[in-house]
Amino acid sequence: MRIAASADLHFSPQSYAKLKDQFERVRDDADVLVLAGDLTNYGQPDEMEPLLNVLVRLRLPVVVVLGNHDYESGKEQELCRMMNGAGIKVLDGSGYERDGVGFAGTKGFVGGFGRGVLTAFGEREIKDFVRASVDEAMKLERGMSQLRTEKRVIVVHYSPIAETVQGEAPEIFPFMGTSRLAEVIDRHGADLVVHGHAHHGKPDGHTSGGVPVHNVAISLLQAQNPPQVYRIFDV
Ligand SMILES: [Fe+2]
Ligand SMILES: [Fe+2]
Repeated sequence: MRIAASADLHFSPQSYAKLKDQFERVRDDADVLVLAGDLTNYGQPDEMEPLLNVLVRLRLPVVVVLGNHDYESGKEQELCRMMNGAGIKVLDGSGYERDGVGFAGTKGFVGGFGRGVLTAFGEREIKDFVRASVDEAMKLERGMSQLRTEKRVIVVHYSPIAETVQGEAPEIFPFMGTSRLAEVIDRHGADLVVHGHAHHGKPDGHTSGGVPVHNVAISLLQAQNPPQVYRIFDV
């Protein structure tokens, strides 16, 4: 299966014509399109509606997770309903199987990496914050445990590893993702992980268990030579 993956479209109605052009040929290049969050800029239904118009016309299966920008207006559930109604598969702690390939995903959350992972100690506010991060890791675990396929693709918005965040300011690394996600991925095993959010990160990395992880933020793909708007993976 050929998977086209991109992230961080940050769609607004002004970008309609550009996006339509950019994704015009994706159906020739891939069997499935995966979008790893920050689909919209402000999480507004007014943004989602024209975006869906573009996505539906691509005439290929689309699998997505939401990103933090899609939560900005508190209308994430409405956005999910709109996408479900248009036949787009939204992964939110869930699994999805298609043509023998399993997809599992969730938005993920911040929290830091490795020895720098924030732990639930001290103030209630810190514990609430850490719980949000642990909850997302558990959602990913739930989605992954639903898959019965040999091949497994993981879609998250936040990064599960520090490696694909390199290029961002080190001060904001803990806000780019958390290795709690990578622990789950390594426990269950996967063939491919795609994420976004780190617009100026690095395209390729691995979990400590050896699972390939790719940052497919569109700004990063467009900075490559030659510039791309999605990257193709064979699984
Ligand atoms: Fe983004
Ligand atoms: Fe983001």
